[in-house]
Amino acid sequence: MTTSLSPDLARLSDPAVRPDPYEVLRALREASPYTDPASGILVVGRRADCESVLRNPKVSSDRRGAGITKVPQMPNLMNLDAPDHTRLRRLAGRAFKPRVIEQWRPRVEEIVEELLQEIAAGGDSTDLVSAFAYPLPVRVICEMLGVPREDHPVFERWARSIAYTVDPQLVPGQLTTGVEAEVEEARAGFVGYFSRLIAERRNDPAPRADVLSELIAAEESGDQLTETELIIMCILLLVAGHETTANLILNGVLSLLRHPDQLELLRQRPELAGAAVEEVLRYDAPAQMITRIAREPLTVGDVEVAAGTPLLVLLGAANRDPEEHRDPDTFDITRGDPGHLGFAAGPHFCLGSVLARMEGAIALNAFARAFADPVLDTGALSYRPHVAVRGPERMRVSFREIRTGARRPGGAGEALDG
Ligand code: HEM
Repeated sequence: MTTSLSPDLARLSDPAVRPDPYEVLRALREASPYTDPASGILVVGRRADCESVLRNPKVSSDRRGAGITKVPQMPNLMNLDAPDHTRLRRLAGRAFKPRVIEQWRPRVEEIVEELLQEIAAGGDSTDLVSAFAYPLPVRVICEMLGVPREDHPVFERWARSIAYTVDPQLVPGQLTTGVEAEVEEARAGFVGYFSRLIAERRNDPAPRADVLSELIAAEESGDQLTETELIIMCILLLVAGHETTANLILNGVLSLLRHPDQLELLRQRPELAGAAVEEVLRYDAPAQMITRIAREPLTVGDVEVAAGTPLLVLLGAANRDPEEHRDPDTFDITRGDPGHLGFAAGPHFCLGSVLARMEGAIALNAFARAFADPVLDTGALSYRPHVAVRGPERMRVSFREIRTGARRPGGAGEALDG
């Protein structure tokens, strides 16, 4: 079915569209590739075009100074190109190898159980955003970086402020006053904090198996991360892995609540949790769009693109492209269709995908197992203002009881995440 909706990029910023942007995304995908007249951005929404842009060496991730993000960015892994990107990615990669991440599975399960117990103690309803989905990735990455528990709330606040730096400017001049000051305060807070933490860690001879120690120790051919690179990497990990993973959990729970047959299926077959995560990444992607700049002239579809043109890659539109996905608007956790772009593609493919998949699968299984008769308060569902990393701001769910304590002590996790 084709809609009569005119492709208007600015509509993605409309709060009324945010709960369900997929009709707008369909119109944008069908019109793409095309240049948005208001912003001059080349809109890319078809699955094949998105992937070819993300893998094209003529396309740059260095958006600093291009005026397409609302707030200036620091030079980090995400906005550098080869060879600087290749070097940083190699050094950081060892901290995110599946073997390293897998060691954290029992701890992630414990944190989920702690959160369920806190929810159970709080009555017969909860806001899943503040009680479950946000604290989980923050606690996990803070523990991985060696940040003590009492400092987690301030980290969550700073990470939320810095989230503004990734949002693209879909309407020219969209910068929100006050946001820049908030971002600066958060950056200064992170820099001071991580400088101290890294200095302490260097002076502490006790071996530790956390990500920060891996990053400090990371060395290849005599090359190491500098102090500044280490600090920027720590900030990026917190910011990149926080709201995205929270939205994976929230979008997943929401889809399960709206498709009770799929929730029941996951209850019956917890081994489907991994496939359910892939389907959420496709059906309601936490990262809806990313930006690029044409470094040299190139062709996208049948459009000639001049050097310097900003590109908007609509991952959320590509993930529902009927050319790639059968029956794309159907949520089906047994789909077994791995072709989504939820973690992007090419050299900048999400560094934390193994961790995100593990946290997502454990959290969705825990929700399916622990929440008896969950009911979504549809009137209380609201969305955060960001368009790139999109997800709920409040999501109240009531329940008959929370079944806690299902994790086997010392178990490897099969009970929660087959
Ligand atoms: C469901 C959760 C997540 C989603 C949907 C997601 C999505 C993405 C996407 C789309 C990119 C590509 C950005 C670009 O090319 O402009 C990316 C990159 C990245 N992600 Fe994730 N991410 C998630 C979780 C995480 C976690 C848990 C971490 C780490 C703790 C993480 C760390 C990173 C880093 C460091 C990059 C930059 C990689 C590079 O540029 O080489 N992400 N992520």
